[in-house]
Amino acid sequence: MTSADSLEKTRWSLLACPKCHGNLSFLADKAVCEVCNTEVLLQDGVVVARELAAKSYFDDVFEVMQAGNHAPGTWDIFYAEQAAAVENIIASDQVVVDIGCGPELPYAKNGAFVVGVDASYDSIRSNKVVDLRVFASAAAMPLRDHVADAIICFYSVHHMTGKTIEENRSIVKQVFQEFSRVLKLSGRLLVFDMSPWFPFATAEELVWNPARKCIGTGLDMFFWKDWQLERVGLEALPGAKFSVRRFGQSPLRTFPPIFSKPGLRLPRFMYPFDINLYVWEGREIRLPSRPA
Ligand SMILES: C[S@@+](CC[C@H](N)C(=O)[O-])C[C@H]1O[C@@H](n2cnc3c(N)ncnc32)[C@H](O)[C@@H]1O
Ligand SMILES: [Zn+2]
Repeated sequence: MTSADSLEKTRWSLLACPKCHGNLSFLADKAVCEVCNTEVLLQDGVVVARELAAKSYFDDVFEVMQAGNHAPGTWDIFYAEQAAAVENIIASDQVVVDIGCGPELPYAKNGAFVVGVDASYDSIRSNKVVDLRVFASAAAMPLRDHVADAIICFYSVHHMTGKTIEENRSIVKQVFQEFSRVLKLSGRLLVFDMSPWFPFATAEELVWNPARKCIGTGLDMFFWKDWQLERVGLEALPGAKFSVRRFGQSPLRTFPPIFSKPGLRLPRFMYPFDINLYVWEGREIRLPSRPA
């Protein structure tokens, strides 16, 4: 078997029905669930597990974001050390699922097979680095149970929002349940995200619902406090060892805090967030209980 054949085999062996997680039969331009007949389109080299008509804010801005990630300040503060942390743990023969990967990866794959999942079709279609491109919401992935050695989210969890804080919470809970299903029992979940400082965090709790009502989907960010994410993760991955790593930077280092406004620069000390890596690993393995 050539290495291209084996790559192709790995690709299809990871996929499952996004609805019932049953086996898929592959045809030229689609796959069909053998259990519930759900069809998954294969288009432009992308596995389409979401309505193609579903639009995302990132469809129009992913190139601006991509350029901004490499802007002075942004790369050092958000990506340089974080990418090194990922490179330290991923290795060849591993399957890594990158949630909300956007158009590129900030880390070297080290020979791992990387599945990119994104809810923006234009972003995932343009990603030429991942080994399998999946257009899906992280809440319903077309992946088999317990296939991932690692799941990695770079700054995507705060974009998983609904119409109210309550809805945000239930979407994020559902996403973590999906992480638990897709991750191997020995796997690691790595989430990079910002945790808001007081009083920003309190203000966010107070004004988010009315602001969302006024602005609509224009408000597509909700930042979780570190202890809130810890709790959601431990509910989904009971018994996992949890740790937080905080990335420090010179408080005077300036960077553009809003990627669509690169002209606006702030010193780090005026940006009201910790930049964190949350890790859950080594969860409890629950054996089925014996009949009495
Ligand atoms: C701020 S961008 C980060 C992109 C990339 N990880 C990076 O660090 O440059 C957030 C990404 O999350 C994706 N995203 C938002 N909600 C998602 C969801 N429910 N499922 C999968 N991806 C999602 C967006 O489409 C976008 O590409
Ligand atoms: Zn199915």
